[in-house]
Order: sequence, then structure tokens, then C-alpha cells
Amino acid sequence: MKEVKIESTLYLYDTLDELPKDVVLLMNKAIEARERAYAPYSNFYVGAALLLDNNKIITGNNQENASYPSGLCAERTAIFYAGSKYPNAKVIRMAISAGSKNNQTTSPIPPCGSCRQAIAEYEIKQETPIEIYFMGEVGKIAKSNSLANLLPLVFDKKVL
Ligand code: THU
Repeated sequence: MKEVKIESTLYLYDTLDELPKDVVLLMNKAIEARERAYAPYSNFYVGAALLLDNNKIITGNNQENASYPSGLCAERTAIFYAGSKYPNAKVIRMAISAGSKNNQTTSPIPPCGSCRQAIAEYEIKQETPIEIYFMGEVGKIAKSNSLANLLPLVFDKKVL
């Protein structure tokens, strides 16, 4: 038996002021998208904004449904749209902001497992890392230099 340790690195920023201007702009797009989310069932509003290597910014937010599993998270709404509109563009980074109407979120909210798997697909396809920045409504911002840090032991097409 051999123990295998898996390590991930994240960077935490206290405020948006510590981030480069273009990242702040992207996070503000995610915040605006969050405010347009359709989340009448959970009251949990999430926005995502992607910067592509063609300089386009794509946003998405969570879209809920009376049949709960038919809804979709913000991150997948955004990245599937990017993939459908610009299939050859690479994703440079994604910014995510999540907030609840029930109580203010003050810590970084990471993407759910399904969204990590979906983002991983594009990172593996494009063969360059996707930076992920995520935050609540207020408070610290977390940065991962690549999706791989958020999803060790990814299920990838190599095994198929
Ligand atoms: N949600 C997202 O949009 N992204 C995530 O990564 C986690 C959860 C949405 C789905 C649902 O509409 C609400 O947040 C509560 O789970």
C-alpha cells in the first residue's frame, strides 16, 4: 500500500482592488450576470463571465426550473454558450460570483462538481489552463491557476 497525497494551490485576495483591472472588469460582468439569474426556487444567484482568446466576454447565470433537475448552473450556461458560439476560441479565465437572497455570502463559493467536470472538458480540449476566480457577494476572492487544481483525479477522455 502506498499513500498518495494530492495538493492544490489557491490564492486568496482580500478585495477586488488587489486584482488586475481586466480581472475586476470580468468579475463585474459576473456580478451583473448574477443579478439577472433566474433562481426563484433556491434564491441562490450565480453569475459567471468568461474571457476568450478572441477578446470576447461571455456571461451566464443559473437558470432554474419547476422541475428542479432541468435547471442549469451559471458556469455551464456560460461555457456551453462559449463553446457553441466560438468553438475554436480558448477560454483564458472565468470569474464567478454567487449570492443568496436569504443571507449575504461573504466567502468564495467554488463551482459545483458538475461544473468543474464541464470546465475541465474545455481545459483539456484547449490544452491551456483556464484561470478561475470565484467569490461570494462580498469578501475574499479565490483564484485557481487552472481548473485542474479544483478537480484532482479528473475523469478525462484519455480513459475512453
Ligand atoms: N449553482 C450554480 O449556478 N453554480 C454552482 O456551481 C453551484 C450551484 C446554482 C444551481 C441552482 O440554481 C442554485 O445555484 C442552488 O444550487
